[in-house]
Amino acid sequence: MAVVGFVLPKIIYHGIGTLEKLKELSGKKAVIVTGGGSMMKSGVLKKARDFLGEIDIESSVFEGVEPDPSIDTVMKGVEVMNQVHPDLIIGLGGCSAIDAAKAMWVFYEYPETTLEEMIPPFTIKPLRRKARFVAVPSTSGTGTEVSCASVITDRKKDVKHPIVSYELTPDVAIVDGEICKSMPPDVTAHTGLDALAHDTEAYVSTLADSYTDPLAKQSIEMVFKFLPLAYKEPDNLDARQAVHDASCLAGMAFSNALLGIIHAMAHQLGGMFGIPHGCANAILMPNIVRYNSTATKKYEDLARLLGKETAEDYAAKIEEFRFALNVPATIKEYGISESGWNEKLEEITKNAMADACVGTNPRTPVDADIRKIYECCYTGVKVDF
Ligand SMILES: [Fe+2]
Repeated sequence: MAVVGFVLPKIIYHGIGTLEKLKELSGKKAVIVTGGGSMMKSGVLKKARDFLGEIDIESSVFEGVEPDPSIDTVMKGVEVMNQVHPDLIIGLGGCSAIDAAKAMWVFYEYPETTLEEMIPPFTIKPLRRKARFVAVPSTSGTGTEVSCASVITDRKKDVKHPIVSYELTPDVAIVDGEICKSMPPDVTAHTGLDALAHDTEAYVSTLADSYTDPLAKQSIEMVFKFLPLAYKEPDNLDARQAVHDASCLAGMAFSNALLGIIHAMAHQLGGMFGIPHGCANAILMPNIVRYNSTATKKYEDLARLLGKETAEDYAAKIEEFRFALNVPATIKEYGISESGWNEKLEEITKNAMADACVGTNPRTPVDADIRKIYECCYTGVKVDF
C-alpha cells in the first residue's frame, strides 16, 4: 500500500479573539506582510503588533500587497526581509498577502532561486532555516493558512502560477472570524465559493482519501448553511467564524488531496481577464461537475449532503447558491466581450492544460474538452459530454 503523508500546520488556533494567540509565539523579529490597508483601518494590524510587542518580538510591516500578487511585489518584500532578518514571517490579511508572504519566504531562505524553479510542484528545498511562518487570514476562502499552495501572477505574461510544496504549509494558523468583519459582501461571496470549489475538487480528486473526505464534506455543509448568513449579516460573528472554519477545513482537505480542472481553468480567467478567483470558480464549477460526473460517482455523496441525489442535482444546487449570492452565471455576464474572449480562447485552453491542478482531476481532459467547457461557461450552456 502506498504511504501517504497528511500535512497540516503544527497548530491551528480557531475562534473569535484568537488573534491574541500571537502572544504564544517565540522569536525575536517578525515581518508582517499585509495588503492594501484594510488591516490597518480595522485596527487589526496595530492589535497584532501590540500582541507581539508584549512578548518582546520586534515587528516590521511590509504593506501594499495587491490582489493577485505579482512577482515584483514579492521581490520588494524580500528586500525588506533581507534588511530586517526576521525569524518570523507573518502573513496577515487576504489570501494575496499570505500567498505573497509565502513566496517571499522562499526567496528570503534561498536568495539564488527563481520563480521558474519554484513552479514544478513539490520541488522547493527545505525552509525554516531562517524563519517560521504564521498565517492570519482576513478572508474566508483560500485556506492558504493551512495549505501547501501560493499563487503568484506573472503580469508580463498574464499567467497565474500556482506554487505547490508542503514546505509552504504554515507553522501556525490563526483562524479568527472577528478579523473577517471588514470583508465586503462580494468578497465574502467570492471567497466562500472558492472554499466550496476546494471542497468539491478535493472530494473527487484522484488523491482523495479517508482523511480528506470528511473534511471536505463537513466544510460543504457549513458553507451552504452559513455563507448566505455571513453575506447578508456582515457583523454576525457566529456566521463569520463558521465560514472561516469551513474555509480552513476546505484548505486542509485540498492541501492534501489537491485540486482539479475548476482551478486549472479558473487560474486562466483570473490571469487573463481579471475575474476574481472565487467568482471564476463559481462560474465553472457546475459545468465541471457535469463533465467529471462520467468519471466519478462521488458527487452523489455531495448531493445527498444537501438532500438531493445525483451529480446533476449537485450542479444545480451550486447554480442556485451562486444566484442567491449575486454571482454571475456566465463569463459573458461577468462582462468579458465576445471579441476579447474569442481572441484568447486558444491561449487560455493551452495554459489551463499546462496548469499543475489538471493532474489530480478525476477525468483526464484533452484540449478540446477544456475549450468546450470554456465555451459552455461563456454563454451558459450545460455541458453534456
Ligand atoms: Fe481556490
